[in-house]
Amino acid sequence: MSRIKIDQLWVPDTLDGEDTADFLASVEGSRQVQIHIWGTDDLAASAAETLQNFRDPYEWYVVLIARLDGGIVGQAGIVLPLADSTHLAYVTLEILPSAQGHGVGRELLEAAEQFVRGENRRVVVVETHHPVSALALAEDERLKPAQGAGSLPLSSREVAFAQRADYHLQHIEHFSACPVPLPGTLQDGLMAEAAAAQHGNFTLHQWLDRCPDKWLRDIAALEGDPGNDPDWPAEDLEAGGRTAGGIRDAEALVLARGRRTLVTAVEDTASGTLVGFTSTTMLSTLGEVDFQDDTVVANEYDGQLLGQLIMVANMELLSVQFPKARRVYTWTAVDDGGCTDVNGKLGFVPAGVSGQWRKDLGSLR
Ligand SMILES: CC(C)(COP(=O)(O)OP(=O)(O)OC[C@H]1O[C@@H](n2cnc3c(N)ncnc32)[C@H](O)[C@@H]1OP(=O)(O)O)[C@@H](O)C(=O)NCCC(=O)NCCS
Repeated sequence: MSRIKIDQLWVPDTLDGEDTADFLASVEGSRQVQIHIWGTDDLAASAAETLQNFRDPYEWYVVLIARLDGGIVGQAGIVLPLADSTHLAYVTLEILPSAQGHGVGRELLEAAEQFVRGENRRVVVVETHHPVSALALAEDERLKPAQGAGSLPLSSREVAFAQRADYHLQHIEHFSACPVPLPGTLQDGLMAEAAAAQHGNFTLHQWLDRCPDKWLRDIAALEGDPGNDPDWPAEDLEAGGRTAGGIRDAEALVLARGRRTLVTAVEDTASGTLVGFTSTTMLSTLGEVDFQDDTVVANEYDGQLLGQLIMVANMELLSVQFPKARRVYTWTAVDDGGCTDVNGKLGFVPAGVSGQWRKDLGSLR
């Protein structure tokens, strides 16, 4: 008989109560897996941040935990989008390094699939992560995605696991890291280069946490720019763009998680319209780790290095507002040439790749 027991994680209202042991063990388990994959817990969420995941009105978050001989040894975080993409479920599997290879991952994934089937989700998406050290491979040792460039190591146990569970590799993203603050000479040089490439008059606007009312509509329009992810099947793209109210809700959630957002946007002064923006999120309460989110520049402004201009300016804002910031992380599509070029100039170095896999549950019925 299996010694693995799977339950739904009970989520406490606060972290001060008595029944927080499982919740805290699950947060710590997630941190251990992050260290195992990336060699750092820089991107691990704190207990307070994790608690907020369960209060997101746009996504239902459920965690299944696996116990082996009583102790929690793994978990499946299940995200069910509620506003759009309601046919999808995202599953994050995390098995403690010491418990891997005992069938815990397989049982948890089966339980997660059963759960999401019950919620009428047709497609399950999982991710596998691979440090840069695993990527120096001969051609016949690589698995290519259905769409886009890049590859994953065929020898990886995560790849074997996903294939065995009937998932198909859809696309791949680069994970990279940049030390900050940028050297002053680099920052000045990149700003000067961007300024020299511009044909029109542009004005930069910067803010923390809350988009000024004046720019809400422009930011919503830029976020809705179609085709920001050409590799993913159209029906699986999250409906691009948000309403102004959606942006305000998202801002409130970020603040509730104890995170801070830094935005640099660029206005075409002639039209008085924002034509691009970039945003990063300060992750940890220590103020050392920042995460690069979206960078969008309207297509008709291509070739004027506006992406470079706003990304460098945002790095400058970061070092002024959060002088203790030491690292910025980002995931970028493998064939997102523009972003990758600018990231390279800023000093981002590859830290690994992540593969997005999907399984169509509908076709299995
Ligand atoms: C990937 C992960 C979830 C697997 O969990 P696990 O409990 O170690 O896996 P299981 O013991 O249930 O193994 C299930 C299948 O994975 C594959 N697998 C497991 N260990 C393997 C190994 N050492 N070599 C090759 N394949 C292996 C096998 O196909 C196995 O099936 P089998 O036993 O019938 O041959 C776990 O390693 C993990 O948490 N990794 C880090 C986070 C991550 O990448 N999560 C996303 C995974 S989609």
